[in-house]
Amino acid sequence: MNKLIIGLVLCLTSSTYLYAAGDVAAGKEKSVACGACHGGDGNSEIANFPKLAGQNYKYLIKQMVDIQSGERSVPEMAGQLDTKNEQDIADLAAYFSSKTAIGGKTAADQLALGQLIYRAGLPSKQVAACTACHGAKGQGLPTAGYPALSGQHATYSEKQLMNFRSMTRTNDTNGMMRDIAARLSDVEIKAVASYLQGLY
Ligand code: HEC
Ligand code: HEC
Repeated sequence: MNKLIIGLVLCLTSSTYLYAAGDVAAGKEKSVACGACHGGDGNSEIANFPKLAGQNYKYLIKQMVDIQSGERSVPEMAGQLDTKNEQDIADLAAYFSSKTAIGGKTAADQLALGQLIYRAGLPSKQVAACTACHGAKGQGLPTAGYPALSGQHATYSEKQLMNFRSMTRTNDTNGMMRDIAARLSDVEIKAVASYLQGLY
């Protein structure tokens, strides 16, 4: 009996992420305010603001839910999601994930180290290859909700890795990214973030 209740509670808790299917056209209408920072089509032109174009649906929903609840602190987005309900969030995720990301370039002097870390990891420091979860081309793992990283602004990716390392960002399930970032030096973070910007 107790097990049944626990099972039911778990079911209800995890159903937070079982959103109704989002509608791309409705999402476009609801995204006008977002465009000021993220770009109308999700290709933000400002390096501190992440590109959302082509990001996977499940990941976008999780981040919006986490930002809305304060689980992930994004002061720049204060108020942006306050009035959004589950359907709005699903529509916004459908819209941005339907767009195509425009990639950038890897700095020539960061390529060798960045590529090495991304593709092979750093076995001596027990850092897994990033490809394991983020894919050979940085496309992520949409079914698991692991984010695409391809073409993302290096400045933004670098900040996220720093935030995971300093535990300023703690919304990664089971500390998956905190554990990895904790093993990376500043130089390694800079190199792999630059690599991501040119990967697509
Ligand atoms: C005033 C600027 C601003 C506005 C407007 C804004 N955002 Fe953001 N958003 C940000 C910043 C800055 C971050 C990343 C902060 C960080 O962690 O470094 C972010 C992060 C995100 C993320 C997480 C992306 C990732 O790769 O993890 C999502 C999703 C998002 N915003 C969706 C939205 C949506 C949807 C709207 C409109 C309803 C919106 N934002 C409006 C600035 C803004
Ligand atoms: C075990 C799986 C796994 C591995 C290996 C992994 N990641 Fe991640 N990564 C994740 C998950 C899951 C998230 C999203 C966490 C969340 O829900 O907020 C993430 C998020 C990120 C983000 C933030 C994305 C955004 O849009 O905000 C960056 C940057 C990142 N990872 C870089 C890397 C790099 C670089 C490596 C290799 C050194 C790596 N990851 C290895 C699972 C992994």
